[in-house]
Amino acid sequence: MNSPNPHPIYLDCDPGVDDSLALGYLVASPAVRLVGVGTVFGNTAVETGAKNACDWLALMGAGDVPVAIGAKKPSNGEFHGGAAWIHGDHGTGTVTLPESGSTPVDRSAAELLVDLAHRHEGELQIVAVGPLTNLAEALALEPRLPRLVRRVTLMGGAALHPGNISPVTEANVGKDPESARIVFAADWPLTMVGLDVTMRNTFEEEHREALRASGSRSAHHLADVLDFYFDFHIDVYGRRCSALHDPLAAAIAAGGIVPTLAPTVAVDVDDTFGPGRGQTICALGGMHRGFPAQEDAHCSVALEIGTPVAPHLVDVLTTLP
Ligand code: RIB
Ligand code: CA
Repeated sequence: MNSPNPHPIYLDCDPGVDDSLALGYLVASPAVRLVGVGTVFGNTAVETGAKNACDWLALMGAGDVPVAIGAKKPSNGEFHGGAAWIHGDHGTGTVTLPESGSTPVDRSAAELLVDLAHRHEGELQIVAVGPLTNLAEALALEPRLPRLVRRVTLMGGAALHPGNISPVTEANVGKDPESARIVFAADWPLTMVGLDVTMRNTFEEEHREALRASGSRSAHHLADVLDFYFDFHIDVYGRRCSALHDPLAAAIAAGGIVPTLAPTVAVDVDDTFGPGRGQTICALGGMHRGFPAQEDAHCSVALEIGTPVAPHLVDVLTTLP
């Protein structure tokens, strides 16, 4: 079913295996129109992420979508190398993608984002699935950004779930807590898709095989990059599978998956240098009273997803060319 009026989306990512699933979902979903991609340091170096985004987009038949290189390192610190043990040396597992030959645009990711926000005033949705450095830079570049943008949906944080880079900290927020604090504090509608839901929805071998068995060349390549990523998760789940971090955020942003519980509460980020650095501090004190409204709160924290996510992702991703 094609949406009569697909709304424009800018994706900020660090591709990254699960980022590529999010990218594919936003290209394939009839409910949205991907109008720009920015890359940020994280799973791999920002330039490598940009090459991966260009190659994935060309493979998926969306080579016309502009890709911009963003921050090389966090706003307060250095880039200490990617997560090769999770995403592979170049962010694509052990796979070498077909070369697209296309190159990123000559603007920064923050500049591209601000341009798109003006061009699609009131309509643009931001999906952020990496560290939030580019979004903080865009807010500094254009302080009116929260008024120009429809919503921000981000994969990051953890409300009640343990962290994945420390007992309390999730990787995207933890890699640049200062930028994350700025993004959560900005006065825009924000949906936080954190580990509370992304760790409880997994992709299994049957789903990976369904991608591979489809006639979609893109889905076949996604199945291949998942192979290495599945091995990493043996230590997490005790079996080959994967959490669904970035693609779940993309599906929620596109409306393909609707959380059954996502209270709008105040969220702060610990940007101190103590043991809680990078923690998302969510005001969930009303959890036994149905989460009564909180004045000035603007962050919806996804806590429960009612429908199976993986089959929905397979349905959408296998429509790619
Ligand atoms: O914590 C999970 C997040 O960190 C995902 O976005 C993954 O791609 C990595 O960036
Ligand atoms: Ca990511």
